[in-house]
Amino acid sequence: MCGIVGYVGQKDCAPILVEGLRRLEYRGYDSAGLAVHTGRGVEIVRAVGKLSNLDAALKKNPLSGTTGIGHTRWATHGRPSEANAHPHVAGHVAVVHNGIIENHVQLRRDLESRGVKLQSDTDTEIVAHLIDEAMRQGRTRLSEAVRTALGHVRGAYAIAVVSGDAPDEIVVAKQDSPLVLGIGENENFAASDIPAILAHTRDIILLHDGEMAVLTASHVEISTLEGTRITREHKRIDWSPMQAEKGGYKHFMLKEIHEQPRAIEDTLRGRVDLPNADVVGAEIGLSAELAQRVSRVYFVACGTSAHSAMAGRYWVEQLARIPSTLEIGSEVRTRDPVFVPNDLVVAVSQSGETLDTLAAVKAAKAAGAHVLAVTNVVDSAIARASDGALYTHAGPEIGVASTKCFTSQLAALLMLAIYMGRRRGTLDTDGAHRVLDALWRVPAQMREVLARGEDIKAIAKKYLRTRDMLFLGRGTEFPVALEGALKLKEISYIHAEGYAAGEMKHGPIALIDEDMPVVVVCPRDNQYDKTFSNMEEVKAREGQLIAVCTEGDEDVRALCFSDAAPRSSTRGILSAAEPDVITIPEAANEVQPLLTVLPLQLLAYYMADLKGTDVDQPRNLAKTVTVE
Ligand code: G6P
Repeated sequence: MCGIVGYVGQKDCAPILVEGLRRLEYRGYDSAGLAVHTGRGVEIVRAVGKLSNLDAALKKNPLSGTTGIGHTRWATHGRPSEANAHPHVAGHVAVVHNGIIENHVQLRRDLESRGVKLQSDTDTEIVAHLIDEAMRQGRTRLSEAVRTALGHVRGAYAIAVVSGDAPDEIVVAKQDSPLVLGIGENENFAASDIPAILAHTRDIILLHDGEMAVLTASHVEISTLEGTRITREHKRIDWSPMQAEKGGYKHFMLKEIHEQPRAIEDTLRGRVDLPNADVVGAEIGLSAELAQRVSRVYFVACGTSAHSAMAGRYWVEQLARIPSTLEIGSEVRTRDPVFVPNDLVVAVSQSGETLDTLAAVKAAKAAGAHVLAVTNVVDSAIARASDGALYTHAGPEIGVASTKCFTSQLAALLMLAIYMGRRRGTLDTDGAHRVLDALWRVPAQMREVLARGEDIKAIAKKYLRTRDMLFLGRGTEFPVALEGALKLKEISYIHAEGYAAGEMKHGPIALIDEDMPVVVVCPRDNQYDKTFSNMEEVKAREGQLIAVCTEGDEDVRALCFSDAAPRSSTRGILSAAEPDVITIPEAANEVQPLLTVLPLQLLAYYMADLKGTDVDQPRNLAKTVTVE
């Protein structure tokens, strides 16, 4: 996830572009840059770090002109550095890009075999060279060259292109990454998102997938990538700048919950090889030889990441049949754990900076273990300290309570387990195909679950006055139960505990009475019957059941029906006629946690919001914890 912005008009564009990028910093902020037609051709200025560094670079090296493009980066290919910062230049062409080019390895090889010397590790520079090549081969119009170049590209992109040969225009194109056009008076804009241009115009055109546009100061010409002209009316946007930054959602957390289908798509992109029922090794950060040799997988993580790591542990055991264990980062430091050379330590961390996880990584490395980082931040401290990295592509997460990073970690860890299972021969083609196919379908199924937000809000309303809540799940739904409880306590300050459903009888059952809501994660999987029995035990003690189950499960629904007429308990919990059941679509067991966690995230969100807590910045918590 990165932010792009473009301007063509009569005004000096650099300040407009930088201000636009500032509004897009939520999309990434590891480096930034501008390309502007200065009259001497296209000139670029780039800087590593936050936008203030670009500001400083522009003071030293001002860019003056009325046509330009800008970019704020969140690295996916290549570490954050000036060489990897956008815009990327080839010949007279400069390109900014948001997205992931799936066939970048092949395209890079092809370009190099034609004698092209690439200056960066990015997939974007390849696009710049393809456009430059097309121009040299006689595509005189920039738009034609862009069209030809994109014919070779597979993947997700929103790009903006300028060329020294076309001083008064910007060409943009889009496939699977967002791009909006802003229509002004003698000026036009392009951007990844509306906040970047809202200060200048409220007249917006959304570009669709497979479309491109040529922008000049007075015209916007839209066409398909195949060349068919399109007319589209603009829409008037009446959001406030603050609303726009949150995409119209009330909080970043809610926006990020709804971004999960996209985050999973981006995390899977270019990595799932469905025809061969496999995962692309180059993207996993672990060699085939090592995957075969590993004798134990040792997961290390903190907080939400420890919950995804727990699911990862189950999958590695089930699919790759490797003994696996999970340790909380701080405990690795406290104990003096024994690592052996054939241990694979998998350090899971959305920020890549958590001190306890980093210390565990260093200890494991010192003991001779091989370390694989699973993180959302390219070149972060944990990625650097590790031997390899498997990156989630969730984009920056702003809400302190992690949501899209969690499910992206689940997707990455499931791919890791499949990759290892394939290398070790424990997972055959049919088995791998079944799980990968299910994983591929998750984003669409997530959208179905997220559409049930209002039902979940209604349940949240009912339980607002509760002081405690129990969350139960078995197998890979146990980490989901833990995560549901963590989300609730983090943002609503309601005391919540997650338990393995089988452990209920060893303690928590003593707490169950009519004032104890119990959330049970009970999709149809191989643990279903046992978890169902636990629900019956809760009901027998008059606990208030809230179930997450599979669509069409009438048994769970019937069980959750309260026999009693609506009444108030001492804490004001209303046992109503309608059962508190949230469903997920039918899915393979392995991918169910990516779906069952969504209702729990939304339940926590609505309970917190209805209580009026600070959802995005809950008290006492920090997004990145770099202290012991
Ligand atoms: C903090 C955050 C959590 C996160 C945990 C681990 O506590 O508030 O959301 O799960 O750190 O962070 P990491 O970046 O290592 O995943």
